[in-house]
Amino acid sequence: MIPTVRVAEVGRHVGEDVRLRGWLYNRRSKGKLHFLIVRDGSGLIQAVMFAGDVDPETFARADHLGQESSLELVGTVRADPRAPGGHELAVKAFAPIQPASDYPISPKEHGVDFLMQNRHLWLRSSRQHAILRIRATIEAEIRSFLDREGFVLIDSPILTANAAEGTTTLFSTEYFDQTAYLSQSGQLYAEAAAMAFGKVYCFGPTFRAEKSKTRRHLTEFWMVEPEMAFFDLEDSMALQERFVSQIVKAVLARHGDELRATLERDTAGLEKVEPPFPRISYDDALGILTSRGEELAWGEDFGGGHETIIAEQFETPFFVHRFPTITKAFYMKPDPERPDLALCADMLAPEGYGEIIGGSQRIDDLALLERRIDEHGLSRDAFAWYLDLRRYGSVPHSGFGMGVERLVAWVCGLQHLRETIPFARTIDRLYP
Ligand code: 4AD
Ligand code: MG
Repeated sequence: MIPTVRVAEVGRHVGEDVRLRGWLYNRRSKGKLHFLIVRDGSGLIQAVMFAGDVDPETFARADHLGQESSLELVGTVRADPRAPGGHELAVKAFAPIQPASDYPISPKEHGVDFLMQNRHLWLRSSRQHAILRIRATIEAEIRSFLDREGFVLIDSPILTANAAEGTTTLFSTEYFDQTAYLSQSGQLYAEAAAMAFGKVYCFGPTFRAEKSKTRRHLTEFWMVEPEMAFFDLEDSMALQERFVSQIVKAVLARHGDELRATLERDTAGLEKVEPPFPRISYDDALGILTSRGEELAWGEDFGGGHETIIAEQFETPFFVHRFPTITKAFYMKPDPERPDLALCADMLAPEGYGEIIGGSQRIDDLALLERRIDEHGLSRDAFAWYLDLRRYGSVPHSGFGMGVERLVAWVCGLQHLRETIPFARTIDRLYP
């Protein structure tokens, strides 16, 4: 019996015959030799077919096989330090599964629009493969970190009756005889769950009808939202810096080579990511902008360009805390020492990747929360359940939301969020 193995496992079978199944990534020939580069999702291997080892028909068939044909191979695994992955396969038998021709994505350069239109095929390219494997590791590490820290995963609903993060970016949908909105954030539900379980997180897709076309905004993105009872803003920031450092460490440990070789990411900056992260106030950040000749009135929120200028001062992620209350969401607790400031903090990535985390301490006082709901033109009735959390055993609590795509973009060194998610949704893209 010849064992069927994946490319990633061939190192355990040196000198043995194995069966591999995959797709033809690339091919070249030299006289009596075909070099077939085969990928199977776990890696790439060079399969060498020598005319003397197979029958003439098989040798001829391999010569006409198009890129991305699916195929099965049997051969002997040889260690070869020069080969990518350190091994190659000396082919003994070969059978196409489905011969393909005219695969649209060739090794030549294609425009981004063409590649996004063919995203269902683009996923097979080595660069996209590396990015999405790193994304998977990031998501796994998010869960495992929070699980180790004693958090309980509480999934939040996607169909909701209200806005959580402002009414201007809501997607609505018919819901029998009512209107439902796609969730912008699971936070409000996570707050309810934190009062039941202490430390919780939700992790799922969230939706924003972002009308602007920027490289940092998607209309559908994944967010992890931890929420902690009895945590103040400082406790939350301390957790966030450990969280992000641990995720970066896990990626470097598992994907250092992919980052450097496939994505050409300089990892020196990532190696420096260690708690504590620098902390500056909104007022300090405004000072940096003013000193650089940027006009921004006190009370205005930063745009992407502002974030990049502020980030030039830092080599690691850093916090900007205490934004003016007027720019921020209704649920943020005002600083008792300066009620015009909210007890909130954004974590910004270095190198111009912008905000990766937004978080705050939440209002725990019923009367104040009611007042803020009124001021924001929201309905107290709609938030009755949320107000109950301040009626029955209210406690100081904090939480934050980290956007997975922003984190992947920074870690992988990608200019645009569209490559950080398998099938990006933006204002002008719903296909494939
Ligand atoms: O700052 P945001 O809007 O915060 C919230 O939604 C809070 N309810 C989170 C909480 O406290 N539980 O979003 C949080 C993060 C941002 O820092 C960013 O990383 C990401 O979500 N994000 C987006 N990512 C991609 N496309 C968009 N349109 C995004 N909007 C926010
Ligand atoms: Mg934010």
